[in-house]
Amino acid sequence: MMESSLPALEAILLVGGQGTRLRPLTLGTPKPLLPTAGVPFLAHQLARARSFGVRRIVFATSYKASMFEPVFGDGAAFGLSIEYMTEETPLGTGGAIRNAAEALTSAPSDPVLILNGDILSGHDIGLQVREHLSRDAAVTLHLTEVDDPSRFGCVPTDDEGRVTAFLEKTPHPVTNRINAGCYVFTRSVIDRIPRGEVVSVERETFPGLIESGELVLGYADRTYWLDVGTPAAFVRGSSDLVLGRLGSPALPGPPGEFLALDGASVSPEAKVHGGSAVGSGVVVEAGAVVSGSVLCDGSVVRSGATVADSVIGVGARVCSGAVVRDAVIGDGAVVGPGNELRAGIRLWPGVELPECAVRYSSDV
Ligand code: GDD
Ligand code: MG
Repeated sequence: MMESSLPALEAILLVGGQGTRLRPLTLGTPKPLLPTAGVPFLAHQLARARSFGVRRIVFATSYKASMFEPVFGDGAAFGLSIEYMTEETPLGTGGAIRNAAEALTSAPSDPVLILNGDILSGHDIGLQVREHLSRDAAVTLHLTEVDDPSRFGCVPTDDEGRVTAFLEKTPHPVTNRINAGCYVFTRSVIDRIPRGEVVSVERETFPGLIESGELVLGYADRTYWLDVGTPAAFVRGSSDLVLGRLGSPALPGPPGEFLALDGASVSPEAKVHGGSAVGSGVVVEAGAVVSGSVLCDGSVVRSGATVADSVIGVGARVCSGAVVRDAVIGDGAVVGPGNELRAGIRLWPGVELPECAVRYSSDV
């Protein structure tokens, strides 16, 4: 990936969304800071961006804005220089980009990278920027293909890669090709977004540029791509990173079946696999089975419990014989012995489910 890195590129990272689909995890922690394969989610995006030549990043914050700087500081630990620009009230994606651009040093004709703050992507950012520069585009959008494009920005292109329409969350998508949430903007195009107003790049800026005949380019590829905005996608993203399905310079250890941070206690008689991430202070007792899951710091999985494709919040407990599958257990919550939680269920922080009187057989 290094061969297509570029000199000292600037970027804006959009991290002001509320992450509503990830509640209750995002009640206390903004989505970009959720522990993912052992580190805050953004660490993966920052490390990749840096590997492609990004040296300065402006964080566009709003929701829980004050929580970012204590984690990332001035960026030196990541080999970056990080600035923070906060919207008092959320300005939408376009308004956020315009607001953050006040902190850019780029000249009007320079390319500026814009990243949605909830994307894992294996694409070559350097190639995307080169394509943008060589075609002298106003904006170049990374595009990927998904099975259900109605949940994303649907982006048809012509044979030369020119974007012909931008259809945000349309019930009638015309192609499976979607906006992958990583843009190269020519700086002067950002400066034309109205300042201090609520603007959506997806619903206003992109359609407006296309309408007025400017070159909006698609950079399509089929590398690893995931928006971690739902609980199911979030746990998949973390386990894919742990398993090494997407390489990340920020992974705190070698890829493998699971990753345990310092201070975690995993019994040799427990089965922990499928890319599970085990936080510090976590206890996994003998006979427990944990697969494809995120166990946040200080959580406990007791003997004989099963946790699959789930997030167990900070300090939460899954008691003996309980089954937690495709679920989110909020911080400090307790799943009493014998309970079975499945299929997208979410337990709010601090909720304690008492022991379940009816015990299930061990083959559930
Ligand atoms: N600063 C700031 N202010 N950031 C915001 C705001 C805001 O008002 N609103 C959203 N964001 C940030 C979010 O934090 C996230 O990083 C990014 O903008 C996109 O918001 P999401 O809420 O994750 O949008 P989405 O996933 O439904 O759709 C977007 O991403 C898809 C790809 O994952 C759109 O860009 C789609 O077109 C795209 O396909
Ligand atoms: Mg998203």
